[in-house]
Parts: sequence; structure tokens; C-alpha cells
Amino acid sequence: MSGFNREADEEVARGARAIVVSAETQGGDRRSSEARLEEAGGLALAIGIDVQASQSFRVRDRKPATLFGSGQVEAIAALAQDHEAELVIVDNALSPVQQSNLEKATKAKVIDRTGLILEIFGERAATNEGRLQVELAHLDYQAGRLVRSWTHLERQRGGFGFLGGPGETQIEADRRMIRDRMAKIRRELEQVTRTRGLHRARRQKAPWPIIALVGYTNAGKSTLFNRMTGADVMAENLLFATLDPTMRQVALPGLDKAILSDTVGFVSDLPTQLIAAFRATLEEVLSADLIVHVRDIAHPDTEAQRADVLEVLEELGVIGEGVDPAAAVPMLEAWNKLDLLDEEAAIHAHEVASRQDNVVLVSALTGEGIDLLQRQISATLTAGADVHVLTLDPADGAALAWLHEHGEVLDSTLQEEGLHVEARLSQSAYARFRARAA
Ligand code: GTP
Repeated sequence: MSGFNREADEEVARGARAIVVSAETQGGDRRSSEARLEEAGGLALAIGIDVQASQSFRVRDRKPATLFGSGQVEAIAALAQDHEAELVIVDNALSPVQQSNLEKATKAKVIDRTGLILEIFGERAATNEGRLQVELAHLDYQAGRLVRSWTHLERQRGGFGFLGGPGETQIEADRRMIRDRMAKIRRELEQVTRTRGLHRARRQKAPWPIIALVGYTNAGKSTLFNRMTGADVMAENLLFATLDPTMRQVALPGLDKAILSDTVGFVSDLPTQLIAAFRATLEEVLSADLIVHVRDIAHPDTEAQRADVLEVLEELGVIGEGVDPAAAVPMLEAWNKLDLLDEEAAIHAHEVASRQDNVVLVSALTGEGIDLLQRQISATLTAGADVHVLTLDPADGAALAWLHEHGEVLDSTLQEEGLHVEARLSQSAYARFRARAA
């Protein structure tokens, strides 16, 4: 069989007693090592790992064999033993050699940050496409490790790598199997993408605006999503349930209907193998009519988290240079977990928020501020809505579909110069339509 063995990995992960350690290297990070450790612990917890202890170690030079210094490896082994940990999570990237040496030293299974995030993506991947992307990422991760251990073996044999030894043959066979499986997944993904295009076309018949929730992991997106959509709308959402369980209808003042879409949480230093999988889950954001950026305002690294999220949105081409501000998808910030701020901090937050017109303070947990957020969402979606008369190329079905999706098409008649369409569009939708046409 191929080296791909998710099920066995997951069995070890679920309910496992674990410790979390990290190597703090020089150069530093913009966030505190404590918060980073806590985040890694939180991610582990989210997939049912029983985190017993965590500790970070200052590492001056990364040891090729073990990453940590020898005294530190002993300390990690002792920590693992004290807590009877069967799993050691290292919140850094480990080479296969480092991983296996640490496993020997700690007598526990060791996974690194990429391994941990792969587990989470595997668990959270809700759509067929998401699952395929995660499996692809997992295989890619493994193939990379095989390549590295292969060159490592070569070096052990004194550099005469062109002579095939038994180890090399096995690894070659594994690599081929992984390559074949990856090719098959890529073909399946193409199929899935085509099918999704069909789903999207179907949805265009229900021309409701889409609001995408984005935010750093643990910011409270899912809590806000549930609070805003409630459970009672499930039945009506069957159409979307088959499409994506993270999309639901939401009631907003002054709007007929809208769709709220939850996304996977952002994390810093996303392993490169996972970026495609992550993006696949974010495609909805690109066609959204409004983005609500949910922030944990009580978190000490809230500003660094905000910067991380904006960076990803920029990479996706949602904001940043090259995007005409008038045509950009409008964005609101929901400053969440207001209930966790003490009185003084809350007053300060209210002051800062009141100076910005795109910030709303909320608590998804207590419900405070949710009505305000809903009103603000409605106001942004309908801002400057006007009826526009547009002339389209009759062959350009996509343009008409876009208008159906992002506005209200009141009338369309075929004339000599083209298709005359009367459509009610918000200011931002109109600007985006013009940018699209240009
Ligand atoms: P990911 O799925 O990792 O992206 O997280 P998320 O952004 O969906 O966060 P989630 O809704 O799962 O909430 C994370 C934690 O924060 C949970 O323990 C929530 O109960 C808690 N939480 C969410 N909103 C609030 C809030 O307004 N106040 C407080 N005190 N806790 C909150």
C-alpha cells in the first residue's frame, strides 16, 4: 500500500494524551510565544487531543538531528513521561529525521505543526472538494518527506546515489504510488469544480446576497454564524446543505433574503502544502457581496491576527493594490468577545469603534450587539441602491447572471444595440459590475 495512512494517524490523535512544545528561534515573531503555544494547544483541543502540558524552549541554533538542544530533548522526554503523553506536538516544522529522532528520545509519537493542521483540515473539510484538497496536501507533504529521506539515504551510502539499493527501490515505488494517487485526485478535483459551477448557476436563480464570515481561528465565527442563523432555518436550507453545510439563510432587516457563509479559520504560518486546500474553502469569499471579518477583540494578539487575515485576503485578490477601492467587496469588522473585556477596556473599544463606520462591537456568546451588526450589514448591502439601465451583449450570459446574483433585475428587453437590462444595484455592486465589464 502507499505510505498514505490518514486513518491510522487519526486513531492516534483522537483522545490522545499529549504535550505541546515549541522551539522559539531568534528573529522573533510579532506575537508572544505564550500565545502561540496556547493557539497550538487550542488547535489540538479542537480535534479532541487531550493536552496535558505545554512549554516553549529558546533555541539558538536549530540542531539538524533534533531541532532542540540535547538538554532540551531530555526535558521534553521528561515532560512527556511525567504526563504519560503518547503524543508530542512540536509547533514548528520538523524534518523527517528530526521527527524520528524525537520519537526515539521521547518514546512517543511526534507530529509537527503541518501534521497538526493537516489533521484539523482533514476533520473540518466539509465539502468533497475540501476533502480532496486535504488529501492532496497530505500526499504532497508525504512525498516531500520521502524525497528528503531518500536524499538522506543516498548520503548515508556515501553519495553513490545512482545505484539502486533496496531502500531506494521501495521509496521509489512509494513515490510512484503517491504520484499516481495525486494525479487521480487532481482529475477528481476538476470534476468537482465543474459540478460546483453548475451548483453556482443554480443558485443564481435565487438572487440573494452572500455574506462571508472570515476570521482568525477561535475568533468566534461559528458561534456568530449559529447565533445569526439559528437552527430553525435548517429545513429551508436543504438546497444549500447539499452544496455546503456552512451556508445558511439569514434574516436581516429590510432585506428579502441573504445567505451567510462560514469559512475555515485562518492561522499564521500556514504550511505551503495547505495553501491550496485553504483557498478552496475560501472561494466563496471571492464572490461574496459583503465580508464580515470576525475578530477576537479580547485576545492579546488581536492586531497581529487582523494583519494575518488581511494578508490572506490580499493574496486572494479581495483587497490591496490592483483592486479598485470603489469596486472592492465591502468589509465590516465584528469585534467579538466584548463580554470578556473589563469595563475600562470596553469603554475604550467603544470609543475606537465609534470613530470608524465599519466596526461593530458584539458578543456572539451573549448576543450583545448582534442586532446592530445585522442592521449594519443590511445598510451596507443596500447602500446607495439605484436602478441602472445597462446594455449587455446578448451573448454575454455571464454578465446577466452576475446581475441576477448581485442585484435585482427588474426588466430586460432585446433591442438593436443589445440587451437592455434594468437592474437595482447597490453602489458597491454597480462599481463591481463596471470593473468587471472593463
Ligand atoms: P475556528 O473554527 O477555529 O475558525 O474558530 P471560530 O472562529 O469558528 O470560533 P468558535 O465560534 O468555534 O469559537 C471559539 C471559542 O470562543 C469557543 O469556545 C466559543 O464559545 C468562544 N466564543 C465565541 N464567541 C464568544 C464571545 O462572544 N464571548 C466569549 N466569551 N466567548 C466566545
